[in-house]
Amino acid sequence: MEKKINKLVEEALQELGKASKLNDLMVLKAKYLGKKSQFNDFMRELKDLPNNEKPKVGKLVNIGKNKINHKIEEMKEKIEADKINQKLKEETIDVTLPGKKIAQGKKHIFTQTIEEIEDIFVGLGYEIKEGPEIEEDKYNFEMLNLPKDHPARDMQDSLYISEEILLRTHTSPVQVRSLLENADKKPVKIISPGRVYRKDDDDQTHSHQFGQVEALVVDKKTSLSDLKGTLLLAAQKLFGEERQIRLRPSYFPFTEPSVEVDVSCYKCNGTGCSMCKNTGWIEILGAGMVNNNVLKACGYDPNEFQGFAIGFGVERIAMLRHGIDDIRLLYTNDLRFNSQF
Ligand code: PHE
Repeated sequence: MEKKINKLVEEALQELGKASKLNDLMVLKAKYLGKKSQFNDFMRELKDLPNNEKPKVGKLVNIGKNKINHKIEEMKEKIEADKINQKLKEETIDVTLPGKKIAQGKKHIFTQTIEEIEDIFVGLGYEIKEGPEIEEDKYNFEMLNLPKDHPARDMQDSLYISEEILLRTHTSPVQVRSLLENADKKPVKIISPGRVYRKDDDDQTHSHQFGQVEALVVDKKTSLSDLKGTLLLAAQKLFGEERQIRLRPSYFPFTEPSVEVDVSCYKCNGTGCSMCKNTGWIEILGAGMVNNNVLKACGYDPNEFQGFAIGFGVERIAMLRHGIDDIRLLYTNDLRFNSQF
C-alpha cells in the first residue's frame, strides 16, 4: 500500500510538472484527487487495514495529497507567470531599431518671405494691416492719384468684376483705407501683405497673380532720409549686413518723388558678375514719398503731413535671395522644390 501511494504521488507530480495550461491542471486535479481518484480508493481501503497501520498509512495519504495540491498551486503560478512573460516578450519595444520618421511640413518659401519682411517692420513698430483682394476702383486707383483716364493705369491692368470693382493690382489700396480710417490723424505706420493681380503678360519672372508687402508711414515729419534709412535697414536684413543701397529716380503716380531701389550685388559684392549684369547693383523694389494728391484725397493736409511708401514684390525678393529663375516654381507645389527652403 505504501509503495502504491508513493508511486501514485510520484506519477502525479511528474504529470503535473508537464502541464502547460491551467485547464490541464484542472483535469489532473480531478484525476488524482477527485471522487473517482485512486486516492479516494486508498481512503476507502484505509478502514480495512489493521489498526496499527492505519495512522501511518493515513499520514502518508495526507502528505501525498498535500504534495499534489502544493504542486498544483506551484504549477498554476508558473503557468500564469509564463503567460505574462510571453506577453511581455511579444510586446517588447526594441529601442535600438531605427524609428519611423514622421513627415514634417513647413511653411512655403512664399509665406516664409512675407513673414521675414513682416518681422523686420514689426520690429520697427509697424502694424500689419490687410485689405480685400476684390477692391473698388476708387481705392485701387482713383484715390491713389490714378483717375479713370490716367495713362499709368495701363501698367496695372487687371481683371474687372464690374466698372467699379476689380481684383486689386497692388496692396496700395490698404494705404488709402488705413488713412481714411484714421480719423484723428494719429501717426500711421503699417505694412500690408497680400495677393495682387495684373493683366496676364507672364514671363519667367512675372505672373498674373503675385504677392506684395507694402509699407506706409504718414506723420508730421517724415522725410526722404527716413525712407532711405528704412530701405537700407530692410535691404541689409534681407540681403546681408554689408549691403549698400542706391536710389534711382522713377515714377509712380502715388509717390513723388519716386525711387527705384537697388541693392549692391550680394554675389560679387559690387564688383560685377552675371547676377548683377556687371553693374554691381540689383533692382529690388519701388518706393517714394506719398504724393500730395493721395494725402489730400485721404483728408490729410500736405502742408502738415508727409509720408513714404515702400512696395516689396514677395516673389521677386524670394527669387533674388534664393537664385530661383522661374516664378512658376513658386506656384506648382512640387515638394522637391518646396522642401529646399
Ligand atoms: N504699388 C506699387 C506697385 O505695385 C509699388 C509701390 C508701392 C511703389 C509703394 C512705390 C511705393 O507697383
